[in-house]
Amino acid sequence: MNQPMTIRAIIFDLDGVLTDTAWYHYRAWKALADELAVPFTEQDNEQLKGVDRLNSLRWIAHKGGLVLSAAEEERLMAQKNAHYLELIQHMSPADLYPGVQPLFAAIKAKGWKIGLASASKNAAFVLDRLGIAADFDYVADANQVKNSKPDPEVFLLAAAGLGVVPAHCIGVEDAVAGIEAICAAGMRPVGIGEPALLAQASLVVPQIAALSIAQLQALA
Ligand code: BG6
Ligand code: MG
Repeated sequence: MNQPMTIRAIIFDLDGVLTDTAWYHYRAWKALADELAVPFTEQDNEQLKGVDRLNSLRWIAHKGGLVLSAAEEERLMAQKNAHYLELIQHMSPADLYPGVQPLFAAIKAKGWKIGLASASKNAAFVLDRLGIAADFDYVADANQVKNSKPDPEVFLLAAAGLGVVPAHCIGVEDAVAGIEAICAAGMRPVGIGEPALLAQASLVVPQIAALSIAQLQALA
């Protein structure tokens, strides 16, 4: 049974929670894996959700039994990122998942803060494209942290930036590594996706449109 909590902030992951960039990351990694002749499926990609660029590449290389030099890692990461940026270049506010705007409005009406905790170095670009950058009281992303999810660093940084202690935060994530990071940060975890995959979460909904302010409040 969860301990009672006072909710003061909701900290969201970006890719796969607020928009469908998880699919574009997958397509860009898949193209690279194909080129390297490493078998890579959507199921494999579940393990890479929430994992930063370098550790994702290393996971794929390891799966293929490849040993990459630092220079090869740099080149392959740049190639994947260029492909990813090409895939997302036409993103617009129309790519924001349904339900995000009303949920943000309801969170603000409660007086709760809104934070971002993303493993992506492209987070600011995507927020800008979606037209939601100004909705966040604090944005923490991969440019500011050393340790990738499942390490809690990015969630702890977001909470500190919001001026809210972790025990008063709810984290919202679509990734196994992300839910682990939220738990390790001492926050209440909400999963977006498959309950079987995100078993550590206090609540799992299939997509953000299904997440209501009443469900968040009920976690308190
Ligand atoms: C995470 C995604 O948000 O960011 C991962 O879930 C992605 O799939 C990671 O690899 C790193 O993103 P970027 O944009 O810095 O390469
Ligand atoms: Mg995600």
